[in-house]
Amino acid sequence: METMTDDNKVSNNTLTTRQGHPVSDNQNVRTVGSRGPTTLENYQFIEKITHFDRERVPERVVHARGAGAHGYFEAYGKVGDEPISKYTRAKLFQEPGKQTPVFVRFSTVVHGGHSPETLRDPRGFAVKFYTEDGNWDLVGNNLKVFFIRDPIKFPDMVHAFKPDPVNNLNNPERMFDFLSLTPEATHMVTFLFSPWGIPANYRQMQGSGVNTYKWVNSEGQGVLVKYHWEPKQGIKNLLQKDAEQIQSVHTEHATQDLYDAIERGDYPEWELSVQILSDDEHPELDFDPLDVTKLWPHDQFPFLKVGKMVLDRNPANYFNEVEQAAFGTGVLVDGLDFSDDKMLQGRTLSYSDTQRHRVGANYLQLPINAPKTHVATNQRDGQMEYKVDLAPGQNPHVNYEPSSMGGLKEAPKAGKDHEPHYNANLVRERIERTNDFGQAGDTYRSFEEWEREELIENLVGVLKICKPDIQERMIGYFTQADPDYGRRVSEGVRQAGSTSSHTSSADADQAAKQARSDAKETD
Ligand code: HEM
Repeated sequence: METMTDDNKVSNNTLTTRQGHPVSDNQNVRTVGSRGPTTLENYQFIEKITHFDRERVPERVVHARGAGAHGYFEAYGKVGDEPISKYTRAKLFQEPGKQTPVFVRFSTVVHGGHSPETLRDPRGFAVKFYTEDGNWDLVGNNLKVFFIRDPIKFPDMVHAFKPDPVNNLNNPERMFDFLSLTPEATHMVTFLFSPWGIPANYRQMQGSGVNTYKWVNSEGQGVLVKYHWEPKQGIKNLLQKDAEQIQSVHTEHATQDLYDAIERGDYPEWELSVQILSDDEHPELDFDPLDVTKLWPHDQFPFLKVGKMVLDRNPANYFNEVEQAAFGTGVLVDGLDFSDDKMLQGRTLSYSDTQRHRVGANYLQLPINAPKTHVATNQRDGQMEYKVDLAPGQNPHVNYEPSSMGGLKEAPKAGKDHEPHYNANLVRERIERTNDFGQAGDTYRSFEEWEREELIENLVGVLKICKPDIQERMIGYFTQADPDYGRRVSEGVRQAGSTSSHTSSADADQAAKQARSDAKETD
């Protein structure tokens, strides 16, 4: 509102406190005499400094460094050549050309909010779809597989990858100590230490949901799905030496690249594809389709296109929109469902739990997290609540259900429920078809020679400082993935002057045997 601009009156660019008091002196605290001391009733100063003291919320425990952008998703109305309604009734996918607003946050994983964006690390790729049925979050990474297959291992994994708790120094030996006792990580390690472990920027990288979800049609029938984003800008990764060069002059090149591209109207786009499998155990496969350390081979399970995403608007404020954004794997809409993937269930608890701690109990009322559709709940109060989730015409005295006095009513069912049948003992067991090394070998062989060279060099670079038994176990895993892989890492470690007593190339078989028995013990 424009007000008087007379010198003594308040105009709309006048500095105020959060109480709306005009600030006439923002240069001097109030003191007894010009040399002090200051006085405690100085409300303006106290509001300013104590708010400043609270400017930081806890950063994400993982994926702390990130960049975000707004845009839209446009559906193709089919999956490959088939009508998409055959597999899912999710409304956002049904009509060709239908647009749904999105917000995307890209991130690195291990290090803090201001760490370099050139580090070897998976990249997060989290998308919030503001659909007409409420929000859907697809919280993925750039790489299509993961280190572990059981969520109970996640806190240990993250502790091993983060800096040493004593001296706060990065120590790859701690990371490889954990990895050398986690044979299922071999596939992910093979990707991570290849050039795929350092995407050149956020625009030229893929995304993947990694976990297995379900699609449910109007008959309540479910299929297993995996999601994949393919950048229309192409894919670009960095060699270690290129990353180091960029890092010497720039620690936030990926944020800058995304921001600048959108500012100049060069809007990045990704196409979304899915892979579909019938919802059963697939005994014909030599791996379990719910195991996140595995790819679903795309020659057997083709990528079927379902839509595209365009990012065309930068955030107006980093903290409000990027830092406070909260994504979670539990945030699904009708027509999308969970599979039995145990990692997915573990993740689903963790995200909203950390967000209630990190952002606050009413984090879903913040504009970036709130759905752009009808919200009416009986949830009330809590820190920082600023509005009541009332439906138009709802009796404000009724904050419970059921009620005969004008409260909220349950929604009609959108379609038949999907009701999978379970008949099993409650157990603590690993999945049966672990096959920890098969796909790691396939991935190694699928690389071009320059990628393999880079992979070996990067692995040697970190393994050479590790204890001999860690080296042996890792070489054993690589050897089981592919004998050439193990031999080359082994030779590299030996040539690098390691003190290991087991790292001669001739010892690869011996190391593999050792690793197999270690793997059995750790299983
Ligand atoms: C962030 C837990 C596995 C992708 C987070 C956060 C937690 C977490 C606590 C911080 C969330 C926040 O503060 O808002 C876990 C657990 C996992 C797991 C317990 C395994 C059991 C994965 C996997 C992926 C992934 C497999 C990839 C598919 C992400 C992404 C973010 C994230 C992209 C950042 C989201 C954002 O930009 O705000 N994870 N995570 N996580 N995680 Fe996971």
